Amino acid sequence: MSLPYSKKVIELFLNPKNVGEIENPDGVATEGSPACGDIVTVYLKVDKESLKIVDVKFKSFGCASNIATASIVTEMVKGKTLEEAKKISWKEVVEEVGGLPPVKIHCSVLAVDALQAAIVNYEEKMGIQKEKEPTDENLIRKRLRHVIDPNTGKEIVGSNIIKKIDVKDGVINIILNMSEENQFANSIKEEIIEKLKYRWDVKEVNVSFEREKCLM
Ligand code: FES
Repeated sequence: MSLPYSKKVIELFLNPKNVGEIENPDGVATEGSPACGDIVTVYLKVDKESLKIVDVKFKSFGCASNIATASIVTEMVKGKTLEEAKKISWKEVVEEVGGLPPVKIHCSVLAVDALQAAIVNYEEKMGIQKEKEPTDENLIRKRLRHVIDPNTGKEIVGSNIIKKIDVKDGVINIILNMSEENQFANSIKEEIIEKLKYRWDVKEVNVSFEREKCLM
């Protein structure tokens, strides 16, 4: 049986480059694919003067196509400035690996999205992001879309876990429909704060819990 993958995809899947973690990364992001639920994390080290990516690593829980495209995207951006890296599209990445079957395109999108999110994370931490969209409820929902509730395996956005989001004068208050006693309550809270606290217009992020009583 012949595989629907290019030689390059197979080669990179078997011997991916830049796999692993960077300790104390300057930028880091985990993205999940809405199409398949797989996740990938990208870590960056950035030179503060030149804004060049001096090191980049990834950890993928995705498929062969994701591993191959994440591997090539890390090779493509090493040594590039953040602005150059931002221009890389999933189409270029797919070309670089010699093409992917249509059903696997989303795996390359996931790799590029994780890189772009790690760049945004760095820029927000350093306060150098160019597009200063206001942090409103929509943006918060977008930011939190890949935070997963380990109790159910579902994303907290779109399920009934987020009870209320309130933003006023840079203070975000989020109420989760969950008991504070829940074993994952604290880690979900920390993940939410981490994803929002570096926003340019955010001063404070508060997450509280309010379990709805089951009336049954
Ligand atoms: Fe999930 Fe490829 S099928 S990343």
